[in-house]
Amino acid sequence: MANVVVVGAQWGDEGKGKIVDWLSERADVIARFQGGHNAGHTLVIGNTVFKLSLLPSGIVRKDKLAVIGNGVVLDPWALFSEIDKLSAQGVEIGTANLMIAENTPLILPLHQDLDRLREDAAGTAKIGTTGRGIGPAYEDKVGRRTIRVADLADPETLSARIDRLLAHHDALRVGLGAAPIDRADLEARLAEIAPKLLPFAAPVWKIMGEMRRAGKRILFEGAQGSLLDIDFGTYPYVTSSTTMSGMAATGTGMGPSSIDFVLGIVKAYTTRVGEGPFPTELDDDDGQRLGERGHEFGTVTGRKRRCGWFDAVLVRQTCQISGVNGIALTKLDVLDGFETLKICVGYEIDGVRYDYLPTAAALQARVTPIYEEMAGWNESTEGARSWADLPAAAIKYVRRIEELIGCPVAMLSTSPERDDTILVTDPFAD
Ligand code: GDP
Ligand code: IMO
Ligand code: MG
Repeated sequence: MANVVVVGAQWGDEGKGKIVDWLSERADVIARFQGGHNAGHTLVIGNTVFKLSLLPSGIVRKDKLAVIGNGVVLDPWALFSEIDKLSAQGVEIGTANLMIAENTPLILPLHQDLDRLREDAAGTAKIGTTGRGIGPAYEDKVGRRTIRVADLADPETLSARIDRLLAHHDALRVGLGAAPIDRADLEARLAEIAPKLLPFAAPVWKIMGEMRRAGKRILFEGAQGSLLDIDFGTYPYVTSSTTMSGMAATGTGMGPSSIDFVLGIVKAYTTRVGEGPFPTELDDDDGQRLGERGHEFGTVTGRKRRCGWFDAVLVRQTCQISGVNGIALTKLDVLDGFETLKICVGYEIDGVRYDYLPTAAALQARVTPIYEEMAGWNESTEGARSWADLPAAAIKYVRRIEELIGCPVAMLSTSPERDDTILVTDPFAD
């Protein structure tokens, strides 16, 4: 049976939620493997809009198992507030359809404090984080002082973990001019949330392994995007996790051999939220128009997304690093009505041509994009559900993207609505 990993191939918000929701009809298990509630995945099903941050997008379908893997950083309070919000929308969530890895690290209020304190202290060098405590939580995981889901079950272990964690955080907070942690308050909060969270805890690696052997199909749902990857993104303007496909294996406890198809989600233009380099960014009418037509406002923070032309150099690079087998090209409809479209096909830095984005921040800051122009189209592609519905110029644009990034289009999306999707190659096909 084929298992599919979905990853964002740009700076996030490529439309992963919509595509995962569509594909999850064909899957049995939908698993998140990195990131946390910094993600904002939007699903539009008829008149209902679901906005998911921590829960896998498959949760809205009946008879699917949603999994939060150990690669995620989990804010338990955010989790239950999301569960409450979805329950109010008629989605039933319980231990029968949601499982959380026992070894998942927790995001605590102190992580959000630190996220904010650091951003405030950074001034113009700030990263523009979502303020959810993601970076500080991953730091504590790697620093071997985090509290994990399973620790909540044993008061002695928990107390020892808190000792270690607070020794570190109190010292940091003093340095940043903040008050030390109120330990009694933290303990009370954890004691209150533990009995709610623990019933969902499970050895995910084992159960998913068994399901795989039983022939169940697994859909791994990535969050953020490849250019926000901690190693390969535009460092330090990145998130604190590995957003590339390889993380699906270690972020759930499945071996790399369990991955059969990597689907890169690619927006037909480019957007970015937060600070950092963005070679094809537009601050003119075209950029304004992309933002308005594409409703480019962050799902999590409501911030305006920066917009620009399609950058084939970056997508070719990220598709290679994630081993993408095919892409889902989204938001093609947003380009309807542009007389001319530009695609970035290379960079120039100090008179030297590059066919990739170099790592050095000083070089990234001096990148000038080299553009190729293509004719736009006047017809509407909004809601198109087959190739035959697409104008010739739109097909030409899609084909040119395939050529430039060296990767075929497996799916196309032409509106936020679940069914306005064109399937070219089924990623789940054996
Ligand atoms: P994600 O973080 O990758 O899941 O993406 P977001 O949900 O944050 O942002 C994508 C936005 O584009 C959402 O509002 C989607 O409803 C919307 N969207 C997804 N696919 C399409 C599409 O093909 N056309 C249009 N116009 N909107 C889309
Ligand atoms: P989805 O899953 C877009 C960005 C933030 C900031 C940087 C670091 O919806 O695609 P963090 O809070 O993670 O420490 O912030 O990463 N960022 C995202 N941008 N989509 C996302 O998720 C993002 N998650 C984080 O804006 O620039
Ligand atoms: Mg998003």
